[in-house]
Amino acid sequence: MAFLRYAMFLCLVSMVFCQENMDVEFDLLPRPLIIEYPETRFKNMTEELLMQCTSWRVAVESNNLGPWITIPTECADYVEEYMSGRAYDFDLQTVSKEARVYAKSLELGDDGMDAWVFDVDETLLSNLPYYSDHGFGLEVFDCAQFDRWVVEGVAPVIKPSLKLYEEVSSLGFKIMLLTGRSEDKRNATATNLINAGIDEWDKLILRSESDQGKSAVAFKSEKRKEITDEGYRIIGNYGDQWSDLVGTSVASRSFKLSNPMYHIP
Ligand SMILES: *[C@@H]1O[C@H](CO)[C@@H](O)[C@H](O)[C@H]1NC(C)=O
Ligand SMILES: *[C@@H]1O[C@H](CO)[C@@H](O)[C@H](O)[C@H]1NC(C)=O
Repeated sequence: MAFLRYAMFLCLVSMVFCQENMDVEFDLLPRPLIIEYPETRFKNMTEELLMQCTSWRVAVESNNLGPWITIPTECADYVEEYMSGRAYDFDLQTVSKEARVYAKSLELGDDGMDAWVFDVDETLLSNLPYYSDHGFGLEVFDCAQFDRWVVEGVAPVIKPSLKLYEEVSSLGFKIMLLTGRSEDKRNATATNLINAGIDEWDKLILRSESDQGKSAVAFKSEKRKEITDEGYRIIGNYGDQWSDLVGTSVASRSFKLSNPMYHIP
């Protein structure tokens, strides 16, 4: 079966090249180009619903939706398939690659003050094991339950982010970890990060008592300002929420990772 698929692929590839050589437009290729669809939950959705959920996800990612609490019920299978299938991983890899190209293209100052900011949840660490037990965003967020998961300190690393972390560390960027987790999770967070391969950083900033109640945008903007007030230049910022990236004292360039499961304002 795999061989058959490969043969079909080769066949398509050669067709593309033949047609290219003949200066024929790509859209003259027979459709659909994908001959065999893998068995996924998407398959059980009507074309209309699939488009609606895709449209919703694009609106989430482009920050066009107002605050939202849970994912649309009709899109539960869609989000589950997106998160557990290959699409999410592809999207993470695309952003990581782009960020690495950007980081490598820069000439760092020789004062050692170029900084890269990383968010933690759904950026360096994945809470997918937790969310897969809680409907991938279908359930209303439960702070107490989530905290119990966080203190276990067993969230797996997001591999494309680890790759970026290793790249920017070796390029000489100062690593600033800026998370909405509260100060009482410092040990669990640090232990989890170290076990996941994120073993060195210059600052790990969590929400202190006085930061409670602030929006993520306000909290993270304030903390970025403190970083720049110390003389650092925030060259890159990497997070799964727009609230990790927007506000004030923003990075020269910000990278948004995909996350259709929840929204933090
Ligand atoms: C699609 O729906 C059918 C019938 O409800 C079910 O048996 C099947 O497992 C579903 N497939 C997937 C991939 O969810
Ligand atoms: C977490 O706390 C334990 C016990 O106090 C300590 O031994 C350990 O070094 C701490 N881990 C980190 C990463 O700070």
